[in-house]
Amino acid sequence: MIILGIESSCDETAASVVVDGRRVLSNVIASQVPIHQRYGGVVPEIASRAHLEQIVTVVERALGEAGSPCIDAVAVTRGPGLIGCLLVGVEFAKTISLTRGVPLLAVHHVAGHVYSPHIGRERDAWGIDVNAPGNFAPYVALAISGGHSSMVVACGPLEFEPLGETLDDAVGEAYDKIAKLIGLGYPGGPLVDKLAAQGNAEALDLPRPMIHRQGYDFSFSGLKTAFAREVEKVGVEKLAGDRQLTADFCASFQAACIDVLLARAQKALRDQGLRRLAVVGGVASNRGLRAALASRLRGIEVAIPEPEFCTDNAAMIAGAAHHLVGKPASIRMSATAQLELCSPAASWKGSD
Ligand code: KG4
Ligand code: ZN
Repeated sequence: MIILGIESSCDETAASVVVDGRRVLSNVIASQVPIHQRYGGVVPEIASRAHLEQIVTVVERALGEAGSPCIDAVAVTRGPGLIGCLLVGVEFAKTISLTRGVPLLAVHHVAGHVYSPHIGRERDAWGIDVNAPGNFAPYVALAISGGHSSMVVACGPLEFEPLGETLDDAVGEAYDKIAKLIGLGYPGGPLVDKLAAQGNAEALDLPRPMIHRQGYDFSFSGLKTAFAREVEKVGVEKLAGDRQLTADFCASFQAACIDVLLARAQKALRDQGLRRLAVVGGVASNRGLRAALASRLRGIEVAIPEPEFCTDNAAMIAGAAHHLVGKPASIRMSATAQLELCSPAASWKGSD
C-alpha cells in the first residue's frame, strides 16, 4: 500500500511517500522558518500564502524522489492547526484524490506524531512490527511541540486513550516565547537547548508547575512568567551582553521543563503499568531531554523518532494513514483548527 502524505498545519509544507505505513520513499519538507524569523513567530496569513506557493513543488518532489509510483491513497492532516494553513493541504489532497481516483484519508496531526516511532524501519524502536496482527504493544506517548503538549496511551496503531494535555502554553511555545524575550531568535527551542548545555541549571530557582498534581495535565505559562520575572530583575540588556548568564538562564528553564515532563511521564507509566514511552514532536529533539530520558528513566524503553520525524513532516501522516485504509474521508471533509484526539473516527468521519 503506497500512500502520499501531505502536512501543512503550521509552518512546514511537507509531502512524503510511505509504503505499508513504515518504509519512507521520500520525505520532503519546505520549512518557512526563514520567512517567520523576522517576526519572531509564525504569522498565520503569511504561512498560508507560503504553503500555497510551495505545495505544488513539494508534492511533485516527493512523488519524483519516490520514483513516481502509482499511489493507492492520499493522506492529509485535517487538524488541529492554523486553519488557513490546513486548508491548503486539505484542498490540495482532495484535488489529488479526485484527479487520481484514489481514496482521501484524513489524519489527526498529533496522531501522526504519536505514530512516528514506527516510521522508517521494518521494526519500530521497540523491535515490533506494527503491521503484524496482535503484535501491537501499548505505550505512553508524550507529544511535545510548539502547538501541543499531550500525553496519551497508544493502545493500537491509531487507537488512543487521552491522559492529559497542557492547560495553557505548549512546551515548545514556552521555549519560543522565553527565547524571544531574551533576544535569541526563532524558533527558540534549539537555541535555548544549545545554550543550556553550557549553563548552570541551578542558577535560577524556577517552579515546576503541576509536577505533583493529580492527573496528567501540564501547564507552562507560570514557568514562563517566573522566568520573565527573573529576566526583569537582571535586565534584558545585561543578559544580552553576558553569554554565560544567558546560558545559566537557559539551563535553568530547560531543567524545569525536563523535570516536569519526566515526572508526568513517569507517573503515567506507573499508573498505566506500562514500560514503553515514546517522546515525539519537535521538542523531542531536545538534547537535554534526551540525555535525561536515558539517565533518569531506569527500566523504561524509550523511543524517540529520528530528528526528521520529530519536527512536522508528512511521513508520519502517510504512515499513520496506512491504518485508516478502508475508512476514507468524504470529499466534502473540511480542515478544522480544533480536533479532539480520541479515536481514529475523529480524523475521518467528519464531512462537516
Ligand atoms: O513538531 P513541530 O515541528 O511543530 C509543531 O507541531 O508545533 O515543533 C516545533 C517546536 C518549536 O516550538 C521549537 O522551538 C521546538 O519544537 N523545538 C525544540 C527543539 N527543537 C525544536 N524545543 C526544545 N529543544 C529543541 N532542541
Ligand atoms: Zn507537530
